Amino acid sequence: MNDKEIVLSGIRATGNLHLGNYYGALSKFVKMQDDYDCLYFIADLHALTTTPDPNILHENVKNILAEYLAAGVDPDKATIFVQSDVPEISEMYLLLNMHVGIGELMRTTSFKDKARKQLGIKNGSDDEDIEKQIIGTDSNKRVNAGLLTYPTLMAVDILIQKAHKVPVGKDQEQHLELTRRFARRFNSFYGVDLFPEPQNFNFGDHAVKVPGLDGSGKMGKSEGNCIYLIDEEKVLRKKVMRAVTDEGPKEPNQPISEPVQNLLTLMELTSAPEIVQQYRDAYADCSIRYGDLKKQLAEDILKVTTPIRERYNDIRNDDAFIGRVVRQGAERARERASKTLAEVREIMGIRKFY
Ligand code: TYM
Repeated sequence: MNDKEIVLSGIRATGNLHLGNYYGALSKFVKMQDDYDCLYFIADLHALTTTPDPNILHENVKNILAEYLAAGVDPDKATIFVQSDVPEISEMYLLLNMHVGIGELMRTTSFKDKARKQLGIKNGSDDEDIEKQIIGTDSNKRVNAGLLTYPTLMAVDILIQKAHKVPVGKDQEQHLELTRRFARRFNSFYGVDLFPEPQNFNFGDHAVKVPGLDGSGKMGKSEGNCIYLIDEEKVLRKKVMRAVTDEGPKEPNQPISEPVQNLLTLMELTSAPEIVQQYRDAYADCSIRYGDLKKQLAEDILKVTTPIRERYNDIRNDDAFIGRVVRQGAERARERASKTLAEVREIMGIRKFY
């Protein structure tokens, strides 16, 4: 198409988007679309690994599409598509799996976390225990094979478009590392130079991890600690005002506790640097008032989310527009995917003889 570097990223269709998705991925999608050849998709096949209700899955795909568009992803600049509209991905997923080890998939952090959830095992149980339960004989308690091969599917999303840059949050870096490994392995096994090794992309110097409002850990749909882009103003303010803090600094210059640091991290993403500094100083000299910090934080988050929420409502109701965007996106995404798939088939020896 042109000689710009190729950017590809996606978000699973598992619910509305939160600030973690926004700062880890979506805000970068918007910023990159002017300078790169960008493809952004909704990962509905990946969402199947947690077996959602079919109707809810379908609604989620539309919701996230509307959120992409409302946040400023422009279908005239970037290709926007739904993963399952590109069947070449599913075929190449089968082919690439032949070069992926079960062991390396089982060692993936996200697999261990999700397997633990599917089996109902508590955090803290050791890996051997999880492995025993995974291969155990109780067929009511199973971890689906799609979850194990999740990183293969993600690698295919990226490699089938020969992407150079993949804007994702910190939690996806292990998957990207695996993608690079699979690309290297394929290239060297067949003695070809087919796939570039994709890199994460950030505007700062490190990958983003947006914390939750509950004092520890990252913001995540399944943690129930999210601020959603389409939260109503009142709901959003309430969530921020209820965020976990500490009892206040007891002595000057004491280290900042995790829950307060989390709020400052959110502030660093949404507020002006002087404001963040003001609250850091106030913590250091013990004059900080968490009520003020939270009011300020809610105000600054709303400046980001309000325009998105307002546009979202209109776009979400325009099925015809959303339909046009993804039909055109699927066509463009399939063009390159089918070329790569043909190359992969040829390289692996899947050739027609009639
Ligand atoms: P998903 O849906 O879990 O997350 C979508 C994006 O949001 C980022 N993210 C965060 N970033 C910072 N802080 C957080 N608290 C936070 N929570 C979520 C994720 O890092 C991600 O960038 N496997 C991907 C979907 C995918 C994909 C791909 C991405 C499938 N194929 C190919 C890139 C390329 C995922 O789990 O997304």
